[in-house]
Amino acid sequence: MRLSTLSLIILPGLALGQTLQPMAIPPLLDADTFHLTVAAHTHQFYPGKNTPTYGVNGPYLGPTLLLHQGDTARIVVENQLNEVTTMHWHGMHVPGEMDGGPQSIIGPGNSWMAEYMVKNPAGTYWYHPHPHMLTAKQANLGISGLIIVQDGEEAQLDLPRTYGEDDFPVVLQDKKWIANGEMALYPLGDSMLVNGTPNAMLEVPAQVVRLRVLNGAVARIFNLGFDDGRDFTMIASDAGLLPAPVSINRLLLSNGERAELLLDLSGMEGDTLTLMSYGDELTDPMPGSGNLILEGSFLNGVAFPMLRLVVGPPTANPVTAIPATLVTHTPPDEGESVRTRIKTLTGTGMVAMGQFRINGLLYDMDVVNDTIILGSTEVWHFVNNTNLAHPMHLHGVSFYVLERNGQAPPAWEQGPKDVVLVDQGEDVKLIAYFGEPAGADFPFMYHCHNLMHEDHMMMLQMMVVDPQAAVRGSQRDASHVYPSPTTGLVRYDVEFPVEHLRIRDAMGRVVLDQARGPFQGTIDLSEMARGVYLLEIVGHGQRSLARVVKE
Ligand code: C2O
Ligand code: CU
Ligand code: CU
Repeated sequence: MRLSTLSLIILPGLALGQTLQPMAIPPLLDADTFHLTVAAHTHQFYPGKNTPTYGVNGPYLGPTLLLHQGDTARIVVENQLNEVTTMHWHGMHVPGEMDGGPQSIIGPGNSWMAEYMVKNPAGTYWYHPHPHMLTAKQANLGISGLIIVQDGEEAQLDLPRTYGEDDFPVVLQDKKWIANGEMALYPLGDSMLVNGTPNAMLEVPAQVVRLRVLNGAVARIFNLGFDDGRDFTMIASDAGLLPAPVSINRLLLSNGERAELLLDLSGMEGDTLTLMSYGDELTDPMPGSGNLILEGSFLNGVAFPMLRLVVGPPTANPVTAIPATLVTHTPPDEGESVRTRIKTLTGTGMVAMGQFRINGLLYDMDVVNDTIILGSTEVWHFVNNTNLAHPMHLHGVSFYVLERNGQAPPAWEQGPKDVVLVDQGEDVKLIAYFGEPAGADFPFMYHCHNLMHEDHMMMLQMMVVDPQAAVRGSQRDASHVYPSPTTGLVRYDVEFPVEHLRIRDAMGRVVLDQARGPFQGTIDLSEMARGVYLLEIVGHGQRSLARVVKE
């Protein structure tokens, strides 16, 4: 890379006098067991300015996780913050107890392990914390990362997929900076970070390249386009490939939404182009527009650059053409729907200041708002009677947008999704197949993905239950067993007198069986082989299960 010469380029229109920085590319991890350590750090985004951050395995944002469809993913999350957190696998089809919602608390100093079969098709998903009323704070300070799922179908297509060479993560976030170097928790920022890099530039090869774009911002909606006016090709929406590439000139990307874009840069070596957000074209209800009642920001209502692309030489085996078709989807048939739910959004306010409700309700962690039958298909409507646009998200499923105000959505919006932007006055009709279970103890969330609105209770909970199966109690309470992973000692702390304590190995064999008295204690695993163990604590008619990783 010839970055030294390029770093002197000034990006016009952006933070005058600041030089371009090479865009950070988070490390790509491919493992049987992933270890994510969430901790507080200090990072210099701007030379000489120390910014307090939260990060995952590093100072800001986290590694990209590569998952393979059909494999079992194990992800150990260690919380080194001095506040609670959780970790949610946004878009992934996992049972409620593995989903990392607000109930799956990881206390300070504790670990939690998610273990699930990767069922999603190839696509770009992401992880972020989801603790009650702390999601915006923790995500804003830097806890999130991408998940790339690969599958056999996508592998057959001639698409760029060499990470960091022709296939690039692009996490878009705006930030509000305080003079002392801190990042404010504010809905709309004054400048951009791309993968945590201010004034970002990226050298790309002169061939077809793939950008995996995530709106990782707290509340701003981006209106993507390129400064040379070119069309670009969208190949995947939130939760997988589109049936065929779609050529577009602009793409509205709301919070939590992902898009995989292809750019054909063949023969363009030496040229530059800039990924822009055309905020000047956003209509008033969109956070990021020039709407004067919204919280102020230098980026509101203007077109601004986000990422400068500098075209370098092609790679050894370049992809030089965009495939004509991608995958065949079978969205659920509307005739299969067993129920239609109408979710009406109400309230008025600004992006942060305001209280927005779903069907008149606010989030209550102790209330399950909807009960859905496992294995069923439903039609949902989001009807927006508020003054703002809201990106609405469902956990545990991918959905298809059937209609916007009675009209079929544009082609780019006809693929599998998990966030949909619902503009003021719109009625957006979706269809979803609910294939993952979630009980009352670990229900799925559905909510506005504007993180300010989410933390301000614009969120409800649903169970997805098999009516044939016996109702089971609390299955798992990993927060009370720590640390995990461990090299020896594990402490447990439960809220009932312990009658029995059992440890099973990965084969289900009991390797330790003890009767104990107190509510808490320590177990020594140092004689046991490395691996995953299941710790079962029984007492007083209650049962707590936790996975423990011995290292
Ligand atoms: Cu991105 Cu409730 O999630
Ligand atoms: Cu989610
Ligand atoms: Cu909202």
